Amino acid sequence: MIVLDQENKIFTLHTLNTTYQMKADQYNVLLHTYYGTKIDNCDLSGLIQCGGRSFSPNPNEAGSNRDYSLDIMPQEYSTCGVGDFRVPSIEFELPEGSHTADLRYESYRLEKGKYALEGLPAFFGIEDEAETLVVYLKDSAAQVLVELYYSVFETFDLITRAVRVVNQGSEPVRLCRCASLCLDFLRSDLDMITFNGHHLMERCLDRGPLRSGIQSVGSVRGTSSHQHNPFVMLCDRDADEDTGICYGVMLLYSGNFEAAVECSQYENSRLVMGIHPYHFCWTLEAGGVFTAPEAAMVCSPNGFGQMSRQYHRAICEHLLRDPYHGKYKPVLVNNWEATYFDFTADRLVDIAREAAALGIELFVMDDGWFGTRNDDNSGLGDWKVNLEKLPGGLEALVPRIRELGMKFGIWIEPEMVNEDSDLYRAHPDWVLQVPGRAPSRGRGQLVLDFSRRDVRDYIYDQIRAVLMSADISYIKWDMNRSLTDVWSASLPAGRQGEVYHRYVLGVYDLLERLHCDYPHILIEGCCGGGGRFDGGMLYYTPQIWCSDDTDAIDRLHIQYGTSFCYPVCTMGAHVSAVPNEQNGRITPLKTRGITAMSGAFGYEMDLGKCTAEEKTEIRCQVEQYKTYYDLLHHGDYYRLTSPLKDSSYTAWEQVSPDQREALVNVILGTTHAAPPFRCLRLKGLNPAFQYQINGTGSPQSGEVLMKAGYPVPQIQGDYPAFQIYLKAM
Ligand code: GLA
Repeated sequence: MIVLDQENKIFTLHTLNTTYQMKADQYNVLLHTYYGTKIDNCDLSGLIQCGGRSFSPNPNEAGSNRDYSLDIMPQEYSTCGVGDFRVPSIEFELPEGSHTADLRYESYRLEKGKYALEGLPAFFGIEDEAETLVVYLKDSAAQVLVELYYSVFETFDLITRAVRVVNQGSEPVRLCRCASLCLDFLRSDLDMITFNGHHLMERCLDRGPLRSGIQSVGSVRGTSSHQHNPFVMLCDRDADEDTGICYGVMLLYSGNFEAAVECSQYENSRLVMGIHPYHFCWTLEAGGVFTAPEAAMVCSPNGFGQMSRQYHRAICEHLLRDPYHGKYKPVLVNNWEATYFDFTADRLVDIAREAAALGIELFVMDDGWFGTRNDDNSGLGDWKVNLEKLPGGLEALVPRIRELGMKFGIWIEPEMVNEDSDLYRAHPDWVLQVPGRAPSRGRGQLVLDFSRRDVRDYIYDQIRAVLMSADISYIKWDMNRSLTDVWSASLPAGRQGEVYHRYVLGVYDLLERLHCDYPHILIEGCCGGGGRFDGGMLYYTPQIWCSDDTDAIDRLHIQYGTSFCYPVCTMGAHVSAVPNEQNGRITPLKTRGITAMSGAFGYEMDLGKCTAEEKTEIRCQVEQYKTYYDLLHHGDYYRLTSPLKDSSYTAWEQVSPDQREALVNVILGTTHAAPPFRCLRLKGLNPAFQYQINGTGSPQSGEVLMKAGYPVPQIQGDYPAFQIYLKAM
């Protein structure tokens, strides 16, 4: 609910459990007065203390009042050059060369429903699902209007934000920074949690106290990156899964980003998050508009678990545009780890036949089917079937897969080109490269200039021809390198600072065209695994390959970190062969199955090589996944342990919304002789319900299972795992 106090210019945004407030003060500076646990309507600006501080300048209109300074007040959208020396949200250069931004409140607008952002991903919601407030701020000298957008999804405790900047003057304005969100706190005794890693080990949780100065994570790789995820948290120092206040902020953006937290001199703190200012400069001609990507905040007064569950629900209901929304999604088999580039049509059909016999429903043909693609040095850009490998093309192959009762999916990497390709030979000028410099390669490939419409149109026509040639139900959209040599032949020197962002807009444009033209096709995002696992991509690709690391034990860390913001149904997770291709570890098939089941489930191995017992087990796993599908994908997610704190076992749980069913998943880590006897306390159950465990034995009450726990079975061997299914009687 959005409550307005027009007289006092106070805007209060209430969600189910939280309150967010801002107020335009006597000088029309928009102050941020509160974000936290729900509070009834009142003016919270009394929390802000003013007082003269040397070296904290006073705005001109404050006259002799030396107590008033932007340097010490919490701002809703921080400015620069006028006395706030902390991280600015906006910075622009005017024709005379100044870099000063002074924003004052002008007016507001209130609407039913959720705002949309042209060309950018955003949460969606109709009239009775969300409410929108737009607050207009203006720098009168510069004639720059800043529109702050807020949408409230009340039951999800979700507040989305976006920013539009309009040049209302007659001269160009060069926008050098335009954050999506600024969040000021009147305290700095907070921990910052970020999700970091590298290729093959993404989104590992890192937590530490705020320190004086600026702490930041971000990416200048052109993608949101394996290294840092555009989702960050701030929380009480002692917050945990179930207690303490915590704030999550996700940026729906898939390119360069920065999340910077400044802990300033008088023990307050500020989070600014948005497009990374590195090599960003957007020229706004007279009348021009720039839209910053959306940020989405969830505050939980009751620890991380509640925040995650709110994000999961909101993302599933209001961000994913999944052709399988509300329906059962097929289990897939992917041939990558089974064959790499070395396959024939018969080999693929063999894998599909084995898979179909085990209940698997979708066959995905990975890299290597096009151009002269026999390794990763050639072929990218030539989206035409390699007829030597696949005689008769997709027209011949796909019906053979369909005859097995399976759907067919295909891998593409549209943003890339190999120099050894017909496309590059015809259009060497279509890649990102700086004049006079030979561009760096990544995985032996160059990056197509997706900021250019002509390049995108060409690629889209190629993809469309592939999609028209056969009955295709799924696309894996890959992207296998970081951007370098970012310069576009289509823009003048003064506008090269737009290329990084225009590239991302270009990717979104092509994905949107695919979504609109082929709404029945499920697109899975991929960037060498999870190098672009963010809310922006999820809008177009409702599931994303979580990591190229398919080892079940490494996946515990990756999927644990990923679960803080992103729901299970978005995390592509496959059972692969052992020893694992990435780290050589041997884990039981059951362990691999249980780990992958808490994701968009599939297999990535040569099923023909499995023994009869393994095939029987896989058939059971697939059955099990189908039985638990609703619970796994639509249940409330509870992290029961942290793999970071305790490697002896990792456990998580899904509980049905009516609390009548739950699935507990446990993977044992390091095994010791004579291990301790432990009880695992469950969560989210109804204390009054009696639950039958795995369909047998005397039932146990939710209260006992949550307060006293369930004895962890003593199992021997390497990395054993088990599931406990609870059903209320
Ligand atoms: C990336 C993906 C893999 C696979 C290969 C194919 O690394 O993450 O899953 O598709 O590309 O080249």
